[in-house]
Amino acid sequence: MLNFIIAGKDSTSTAMTWFIYMLCKHPEIQNNVAVEIRKATNMRDDATNVEEFANNVSEEALEKMQYLHATLTETLRLFPVVPVDAKMCFADDVLPDGYGVKKGDMVAYQPYAMGRMKFIWGDDAHEFKPERWLDQYGHFQPKSPFKFTAFQAGQRICLGREFAYRQMKIFSSILLGCFMFKLSDESKTAKYKTMLNLHIDGGLDIHVFNRFG
Ligand code: HEM
Repeated sequence: MLNFIIAGKDSTSTAMTWFIYMLCKHPEIQNNVAVEIRKATNMRDDATNVEEFANNVSEEALEKMQYLHATLTETLRLFPVVPVDAKMCFADDVLPDGYGVKKGDMVAYQPYAMGRMKFIWGDDAHEFKPERWLDQYGHFQPKSPFKFTAFQAGQRICLGREFAYRQMKIFSSILLGCFMFKLSDESKTAKYKTMLNLHIDGGLDIHVFNRFG
């Protein structure tokens, strides 16, 4: 239980913070997400409150939110909550590419750097583009975890990945379905506070507007 709480709390909350930040920086994407959520939940234009909205966030509705899924994933590509992931070698070994490592060596891979490499993602690697995750029908297309490494890959892949998506989709569908977000200071660019997780230094100050009425 402790493992799940430690691994599952800061990870999803940090991902949600970067998600809201990116939606504020890209209002057209924020609008697309909100439109998809309202459509998927059959939201009536005359609905008046959060509770009424939340009742419509069903299993079926979440499944339809493919653009939201893509936008969360695109956020994690650029802002992986575990930016650097290191392992200690317990014994001398040879990595699959022939590189030798010694007992006690530290080996790290960097999801943050990998998420921005042009040779992995193309010339638009630095652009925030949820569409890169969608096929021609607007369905989410997962990529190899060895390419999109925010959740690790192989035997140590995040055990809570599906749970995390589910939690983030439920939470963001209610937030984006009911409210609109703007940065308190539009000109401000978020700075990193790198700990084990990639936090926004000083937190994220936003204004929240009701979408009802
Ligand atoms: C956006 C959300 C999340 C991200 C980006 C994420 C990322 C990661 C990463 C990179 C690892 C590998 C760490 C390592 O190399 O040892 C990991 C492990 C793990 N995660 Fe997540 N995680 C997220 C959410 C969650 C949630 C919500 C849970 C549980 C409810 C969870 C449970 C775990 C567990 C139990 C492990 C350890 C797996 C193992 O060592 O075999 N994670 N996660």
